[in-house]
Amino acid sequence: MEAKSKTTLGLELPTDPRWTDIASMQIEDILVDHAYCEQKAASSCISLIMLYPEREKLLELLVPVVAEEWSHFERVVEQLKKRGFGLGRQRKDEYVARLNEVVRKGGSRNQQLVEKLLLNALIEARSCERFKLLHKHIADEELKKFYYELMVSEAGHYHNFIELAEEYMPKDYVKVRWNEFLEAEAAIMKSLTVRGDRMH
Ligand SMILES: [Fe+2]
Ligand SMILES: [Fe+2]
Repeated sequence: MEAKSKTTLGLELPTDPRWTDIASMQIEDILVDHAYCEQKAASSCISLIMLYPEREKLLELLVPVVAEEWSHFERVVEQLKKRGFGLGRQRKDEYVARLNEVVRKGGSRNQQLVEKLLLNALIEARSCERFKLLHKHIADEELKKFYYELMVSEAGHYHNFIELAEEYMPKDYVKVRWNEFLEAEAAIMKSLTVRGDRMH
């Protein structure tokens, strides 16, 4: 499936520019929230592997992603430490909680898998967009480079999740469902308060 070109990776709604301004000034908060995004990305891939151990392609693509996401987590923790900040507790992730409501319950085992894969693809796409913004606007040279690298990595993960969705359900089905996810995500984004202490 070709990604639509409206914004990064087909997202319907670009990030509110106010987010970039305030997030770039709240480095500690953004790094703490970001660290947990990486932890959740790793955990989510582990869950998929545990739920679908018989799916060879899924294992092939996602086992390496667990290691990558965990190394991202380690590197964010390192950036916190370097700046004299601690990891701090996980914050409420309203974005992901709301996106979870978009996931359809029921259907076949493959349909359920595709719901999870598209949810992950969407979070990767939005993260990728936000990393790109941070890369462009953040003053700190080291973080600038770090976010560029992450942007590239998360774009790769997005493609993995879409490829897997198309492995387990027909392309046409995935396309329809993906567009529904994109639309729902845009509505969620629009309704959330713009906060500089959250990655999403
Ligand atoms: Fe990551
Ligand atoms: Fe990722």
